[in-house]
Amino acid sequence: MHTPRKVRKAVFPVAGSGTRFLPATKAMPKEMLPVLDKPLIQYAVEEAAAAGIEQMIFVTGRNKRAIEDHFDRSPELEMLLQAQGKTTLLEALRSAAPAGVNFVYVRQPEPLGLGHAVLCAASVVGDEPFAVILADDLIDAQPGVTAQLVHSYARHGASVLGVEDIPLADAGKYGIVASDPIGGNDERVTQIVEKPAPEEAPSTLAVVGRYVLCPQIFGELARTPRGRGGEIQLTDAIARRVAQGEVVAHRFAGTRFDCGSKAGFVQANIAFAKNAGLMPETR
Ligand code: UTP
Repeated sequence: MHTPRKVRKAVFPVAGSGTRFLPATKAMPKEMLPVLDKPLIQYAVEEAAAAGIEQMIFVTGRNKRAIEDHFDRSPELEMLLQAQGKTTLLEALRSAAPAGVNFVYVRQPEPLGLGHAVLCAASVVGDEPFAVILADDLIDAQPGVTAQLVHSYARHGASVLGVEDIPLADAGKYGIVASDPIGGNDERVTQIVEKPAPEEAPSTLAVVGRYVLCPQIFGELARTPRGRGGEIQLTDAIARRVAQGEVVAHRFAGTRFDCGSKAGFVQANIAFAKNAGLMPETR
């Protein structure tokens, strides 16, 4: 355990291949897919900013342009909306990048896995705790899940994994933890297994796309050989921190939509449309 420090930086790995959404993701990352009128990555950045994160670090791949452009100012479009008196749209356009945060882009030369993507951000993060946010897990929560994890980190001074119960049949899609309660919604992780068969899963508590990690994870990642699918798995590096007793699982409050799958993406759009009053209930 370490003395907790302020979590100032968030890493957004957006260099995956997004094969489940081809051809939509042929020329743009899946994190640019919109739920209603906002791309997934913007929900994630807003969640980070609400948790007090000051620096947004994107690990991008070959299709990085769309994300960089999205968080840049767009003077011509702003002038056009201003001239047309479309002030609400102008405000929406300007608020794509929350005030007071800065954006850094790091390249992952090849999609060698989530662990490798996080390792690519090591020199920008440096020696401090940081959040990792997978934007394709869209989580409707108040306060946001990153803020919930940051609070858990401040209580324990250990890496924190966002977890939720899943149906046992789905264990093979997630990292699954075994854990002991330590108070509130927090548990001490005693084991983590990547994508186990249901009969081998130590529980139904699954790690979803939210983490606060201590910087020691970079050393572990650098030592992690390629695992399942030839990729460097973040779970393998976390497993070694688990062995040191230094990982906490936080059962977050909120509704998650797996927008990396077509079904989850459609469900998110329907739920958000209903919330926005765009789909009056049919009688
Ligand atoms: P996924 O496991 O969902 O893979 O990545 P994917 O390639 O993006 O999508 P599919 O399965 O082919 O449809 C989980 C997260 O890790 C990032 C992805 O962008 C996503 O946010 N990632 C994955 C990287 O940044 N680099 C990688 O090498 C792999």
